[in-house]
Amino acid sequence: MNLIYDLNKEECTYAFKNIDICLNAHETVGIMGPSGCGKSSLLYVLSGMRKPTGGTVYYDDMDIDYYTLNEKANIRRSKFGLIFQKHFLIEYLSVLENVLTSINSRKKEDIEKAMNILETLKISHLADRRPGQISCGQRQRAAIARALMNNPEVIFADEPTASLDHNNAMEVIHILDKFKEKATIVIATHDRTILKNTDRIIELWDGCAVK
Ligand SMILES: Nc1ncnc2c1ncn2[C@@H]1O[C@H](COP(=O)(O)OP(=O)(O)O)[C@@H](O)[C@H]1O
Ligand SMILES: [Mg+2]
Repeated sequence: MNLIYDLNKEECTYAFKNIDICLNAHETVGIMGPSGCGKSSLLYVLSGMRKPTGGTVYYDDMDIDYYTLNEKANIRRSKFGLIFQKHFLIEYLSVLENVLTSINSRKKEDIEKAMNILETLKISHLADRRPGQISCGQRQRAAIARALMNNPEVIFADEPTASLDHNNAMEVIHILDKFKEKATIVIATHDRTILKNTDRIIELWDGCAVK
């Protein structure tokens, strides 16, 4: 698979090239490499947010591009959990309301489920606070809770610990590790220390996989 940005310009940029990845159920995969090596681009393509310039992404043996944009968005909503470096929480909603946005529901059982997830992430006592009233680490956990609400089959985390100190970073990784039984987890990071327990590390250098 490869991805080229600015295809129509004279000088085009390869975000990554000749990458072949097969993600297996219930494995944790690290995508490692320095800034600009193509980690985010690879996650965008794997999660169907961007179409590769060459190659195909298969999800459950189905070419993901066979689906319409709407269907792809539905797959992302119902099967994937996305966590980014920036938490993208909505400032005027409480932590609980933010978590519920991912399934767009206020049903009693969904509120209970959200509270259970917040409990697992040790921030249920902060459910009524706004993102601005909690710490960076707590905000990232709230973003993780939101990503877990739909019981994702695949969790894509792009630099999920970049805004955290080492202890908080390890805690977040520990939390993600716990979901390994339920989901495939893909973590892109420049920080090798947080990938200690991953099953597999794919190392990128300037858009290419390092053998
Ligand atoms: N939207 C874009 N348009 C053009 N080039 C981009 C765009 N996004 C990223 N790039 C380029 O693609 C390469 C890979 O970027 P990225 O996937 O963000 O790397 P990483 O996440 O490892 O820092 C870099 O050279 C970057 O400048
Ligand atoms: Mg990136």
